[in-house]
Amino acid sequence: MAEADPPFRQEDTRATYDTVARRYADEIADELNDKPFDRDFLDRFAVRMAGQGHVVELGAGPGHVAAYLAARGVDVSALDLSSAMVDEAKRLFPELQAVVGDMLDLPYANGSLAGVVAFYSIIHFDDEQLACAFDEMTRVLRTGGYAALAFHVGDKAIHREQWWDMPVVLDSRFVPVDLVTRLLEKSGLEVISVEEREPYAPEVEYQSRRAYIVAREPLDV
Ligand SMILES: C[S@@+](CC[C@H](N)C(=O)[O-])C[C@H]1O[C@@H](n2cnc3c(N)ncnc32)[C@H](O)[C@@H]1O
Repeated sequence: MAEADPPFRQEDTRATYDTVARRYADEIADELNDKPFDRDFLDRFAVRMAGQGHVVELGAGPGHVAAYLAARGVDVSALDLSSAMVDEAKRLFPELQAVVGDMLDLPYANGSLAGVVAFYSIIHFDDEQLACAFDEMTRVLRTGGYAALAFHVGDKAIHREQWWDMPVVLDSRFVPVDLVTRLLEKSGLEVISVEEREPYAPEVEYQSRRAYIVAREPLDV
């Protein structure tokens, strides 16, 4: 992105999600009920990952995606930058292990995870942070491990100072699909699939085109 674009400050992102955590959980945690494509994508990922080892949802928010995977046999835990979000995940899904952590400096050993999932959590990163997040995924995934990503497609940034009537400071972005695939490959992951869909109805979700990518730590590196 250009230099004039937003700073994507981690401390602002953390403070924002700490502020909105309860409302975000109230509004979003049951969203999969109305999103058949997302359920199908996660069902397919669950078939791939069940019994394969530990998976972590990165930037899990209230943990509903991790909980959905857990219900389908995946050994999964949740990580988020915001401690209030982690508290929401624990409140809503007491069985789910959830920890505070940073996708740019993951608290996992090299090659220790079978999979990572990042649903709408790469949208608060500039290009350099994106590259760092993908390097971290690559580092913690074992050989043959999988990453599943979902994000808003496009090439614009959104600066928000209010969210559900609460004062916040949050920079988000729509991300070009080719930027994501290029940076994933630069990090050493092999892109397995790229799917896109139009948004569901305005009462279901924010009106943006969505991308869903699966990538894998190559077997022969
Ligand atoms: C748009 S929400 C998505 C939450 C959830 N994955 C979902 O699909 O509803 C973005 C989440 O990413 C988290 N996040 C942002 N930057 C992060 C980072 N560097 N490390 C870990 N989590 C981060 C935020 O705290 C927030 O919970």
